[in-house]
Amino acid sequence: MNLSSRAQLSRGQLSSRAQRGICTLFFVSIAACSTASDGTPDTRASAAAAAPSSYELGRPVDSVALSKIDIDVDPSGASLPAGSGNATKGLVVFASKCAMCHGAKGEGMPADSTHIAYPKLVGREPRQGFPFGRDPKLVKTVGNYWPYATTVYDYVHRAMPITAPGTMTPDETYAVVAWLLSENEIIDKAAVMDSATLVTVKMPARDKFVPDDRKGGATFM
Ligand code: HEC
Repeated sequence: MNLSSRAQLSRGQLSSRAQRGICTLFFVSIAACSTASDGTPDTRASAAAAAPSSYELGRPVDSVALSKIDIDVDPSGASLPAGSGNATKGLVVFASKCAMCHGAKGEGMPADSTHIAYPKLVGREPRQGFPFGRDPKLVKTVGNYWPYATTVYDYVHRAMPITAPGTMTPDETYAVVAWLLSENEIIDKAAVMDSATLVTVKMPARDKFVPDDRKGGATFM
């Protein structure tokens, strides 16, 4: 379909400002059919001149709405929010919001006819050798496989409970992460987790992960 028939088809549904934009485009497209000196149609300059400043789609980003989804916490922990919690408080959170799926002690739950498998979250075995690549039956947990405590916070806050993601407060999240770290024998039971302490926690699997800095190969996209 060329530009002029598209403009005619949709004119009835468009605002007058949009219509003016399309008419401008229509006339410019006629002008664009002029031929460059080498005989090929020269459309580039006129197409740029015809681009409207706005397509009247979407709306300006509202900073309150944006702050609700701007919640990522990367390994550095730089954007961890204010708040704090320890394992004692975390057990209360875990018992009410997580245990029905992940088990009272974070042991996980196999799939059955009503649900998929719920991952085991607590467990440090195997402690030596990191043999996960050789044995796919080994179960990965926060304790034996997760490289950064900060991204446990990120994941739990962003994705859990899986039926109501994004509903946990920072205090609840720090507390339940503290419980997970304590049950996995990574931090002391009494340790308080907050934006300053969580970044200092070294996960057992931390050194098993390296940045992928390989060069070469095809560029994606
Ligand atoms: C309704 C069931 C359900 C509830 C409730 C729930 N989870 Fe999960 N959780 C899951 C499922 C399913 C997955 C696996 C998701 C996936 O692989 O995409 C998961 C994954 C996880 C993982 C990642 C495990 C891994 O090793 O990859 C963590 C950590 C976790 N949940 C923590 C929590 C915490 C903390 C709570 C409570 C605040 C919670 N979950 C509540 C079902 C649940």
